[in-house]
Amino acid sequence: MAEFIHRSFDEAATARLGAALAELLSAGSVVALIGTLGAGKTRLVQGIAVALGVDPGDVVSPTYVILHEYRGRRRVFHFDAYRIKDDDEFLELGPDEYFESDGVTLVEWADRVERCLPRERLEIRIDATGAESREFRIAAIGQKYVAVVDGLNRFGWEKK
Ligand SMILES: Nc1ncnc2c1ncn2[C@@H]1O[C@H](COP(=O)(O)OP(=O)(O)O)[C@@H](O)[C@H]1O
Ligand SMILES: [Mg+2]
Repeated sequence: MAEFIHRSFDEAATARLGAALAELLSAGSVVALIGTLGAGKTRLVQGIAVALGVDPGDVVSPTYVILHEYRGRRRVFHFDAYRIKDDDEFLELGPDEYFESDGVTLVEWADRVERCLPRERLEIRIDATGAESREFRIAAIGQKYVAVVDGLNRFGWEKK
């Protein structure tokens, strides 16, 4: 399995990871974000969206709103499945329309709606390993995302 593991030691580093991802995600990409409350899912979405030209103030934690749409160089669709009761409630939002669009779709709490996600997706698991340190495990599920993981592995990350 193509996988990339990245450690972030502060929020700025998480934003840089988001910027790297923004360069690598093509139109129609779907990113599944998995991690507990406060892991950094929304911060990573912010990093990606801002790098795609979205106003930073637009990206908020959409806990009460299940879907936010932002406009930058690409459209960014930001789902938060935290409050989703079951698959039907999620499917009522018509997620396939977003998954198949020319935008980039990011799904927080993706593990709660896993059966509703496209078969191919980029999966990002985030663990809080300290007050400001986070571990990101980024895996390509399906051939389409192998290039993203390869791109992250080749990216010129600064050494810490
Ligand atoms: N390296 C880091 N990367 C991301 N967030 C961090 C980091 N260090 C500390 N934080 C804090 O962790 C929290 C992450 O919140 P958020 O992104 O909303 O989490 P989630 O969406 O996973 O519930 C924020 O309060 C942020 O300030
Ligand atoms: Mg969040």
